[in-house]
Amino acid sequence: MMLSCGVSRLIVRHLRTGVASTAQVPQVCIVGSGPAGFYTAQQILKSHAAAQVDMYEKLPVPFGLVRYGVAPDHPEVKNCINTFTQTAAKDRFTFLGNVDIGSDITFSQLREAYHAVVLAYGAAQDRALNIPGESLPNVLSAREFVGWYNGLPENADLKVDLNVESVGIIGQGNVAVDVARILLTPVDILKKTDIPENILERLNGSRVRHMTLVGRRGPEHVAFTIKELREMVNLEGSRPDLRREDYKHLRNLIPNLPRPRKRLLELLAKTGLDAPDPKLASSWAAAEKQLEGEGLNQRAVQTDETESLQCGLILRSIGYKGVEIDSSLPFDQRTGTISNNGGRVTGQNGKVLCTGPVGVILSTMTSGFTTGKVVVADMETGSVDISRPRSGQTLIKSALAEKGVQPVSFDQWNRLNQYEVETGAKLGKPREKVSNIKHMMDIIHQ
Ligand SMILES: Cc1cc2nc3c(=O)[nH]c(=O)nc-3n(C[C@H](O)[C@H](O)[C@H](O)COP(=O)(O)OP(=O)(O)OC[C@H]3O[C@@H](n4cnc5c(N)ncnc54)[C@H](O)[C@@H]3O)c2cc1C
Ligand SMILES: NC(=O)c1ccc[n+]([C@@H]2O[C@H](COP(=O)([O-])OP(=O)(O)OC[C@H]3O[C@@H](n4cnc5c(N)ncnc54)[C@H](OP(=O)(O)O)[C@@H]3O)[C@@H](O)[C@H]2O)c1
Repeated sequence: MMLSCGVSRLIVRHLRTGVASTAQVPQVCIVGSGPAGFYTAQQILKSHAAAQVDMYEKLPVPFGLVRYGVAPDHPEVKNCINTFTQTAAKDRFTFLGNVDIGSDITFSQLREAYHAVVLAYGAAQDRALNIPGESLPNVLSAREFVGWYNGLPENADLKVDLNVESVGIIGQGNVAVDVARILLTPVDILKKTDIPENILERLNGSRVRHMTLVGRRGPEHVAFTIKELREMVNLEGSRPDLRREDYKHLRNLIPNLPRPRKRLLELLAKTGLDAPDPKLASSWAAAEKQLEGEGLNQRAVQTDETESLQCGLILRSIGYKGVEIDSSLPFDQRTGTISNNGGRVTGQNGKVLCTGPVGVILSTMTSGFTTGKVVVADMETGSVDISRPRSGQTLIKSALAEKGVQPVSFDQWNRLNQYEVETGAKLGKPREKVSNIKHMMDIIHQ
């Protein structure tokens, strides 16, 4: 099917219509190698018989928050890496790690080099409370703290003092519960996870005994899920301490709720209303806020009432937002999102798409698959112009060489992966992560 006429051309058979037409090899790039990026790539490669997909990642290593966010004691969640690795093995896929888009390569260079650009670079900025004291020592974002115990290079030197008894976590989502659980789990259990050895040593010296999860609404509004609550309730050496009066009203509310929330609140009510045991180590608290509205849609309203809580460490865990990587993109600073319609970025003629993160990995997967289908459909209908050849990674690689940036291939990542797994095996754990970029590059180039 290959035709030779200066540039590489081939006949693309439109899978759905069965119509054959002459077109360029569609060159698609994806920015970000987390679940959103990998699931989009998987879909494009499945739905289009010829498209080349290049994935740019700012770190030398792939997988985004699956490597650096998912709790180390939840290894089963990381199994999606096997699917991503299968995608990376496809002939028409190239991974280019250690390339920061917006810094090493501009968005306009990508736009020029590719027929379509998919932005899947996550939500790297944590939300702030914008209240006094937020930048005091030992007042940290949960995201930084998670990065620290997960070996994320940029958080390797986080200044965190665990020589404290009480920790306050602002927010009642799954990240808050993950952080609480890691801080309260006996280190002998954590030793079997991929938490780096130097962090285990720090956790071993931790004096943390009390954890308070502060919410601005009631227990019926918590954002964490039942599996995480159950783990917390059953955590070895620790137990929940809930204010009974905060939970009494749940009994009337529960029968009318949809099933997942019903089961969650049944467990929460049971935990809150069962007789308290005096050896408490962790607690949940509702802050003194007035609630406005009805049922699950109630919102918090600021009041003049305050409540003091003694904490040596405060972790802010109130969600994340995206960052702007180029001023030509229609970026909403308030929400931290790129304006788009069904993934098609506003004002970019369908050529630029954005996807993820959407809550949990499963929802991010659905979003990635949808984006992949949109890319392919737009190329097939011609709303993304693929009639003109694009040089793809060739142009970008020469721009990187000029800047002295060495992209990391998936084979090179595999070398580092093998090193981490082998080092971890000697310590009886799944892997010992390398959390220094220079060290990563040295291993990769050995
Ligand atoms: C702490 C934490 C724990 C979580 N745990 C779970 C869990 O247990 N189970 C679950 O289902 N979901 C969990 N989630 C949610 C899940 O991680 C997300 O749904 C998912 O990772 C989103 O995927 P993504 O690809 O959009 O973003 P990410 O996973 O963040 O990936 C984005 C990638 O883009 C890269 N990147 C960023 N900027 C650039 C740039 N300028 N140039 C090139 N590359 C760039 C990043 O380095 C990163 O690799 C968790 C989330 C957090 C924050
Ligand atoms: N094990 C897992 O499956 C797992 C683990 C970690 C993360 N994740 C997923 O990753 C995503 C991000 O998790 P997340 O925990 O960071 O975010 P989240 O689920 O959005 O929870 C954020 C929490 O912060 C609270 N909050 C927001 N603004 C606040 C403010 N100004 N003052 C006080 N509280 C405030 C929210 O309360 P309101 O409801 O009142 O806004 C909510 O309790 C979620 O989809 C989560 O499920 C999943």
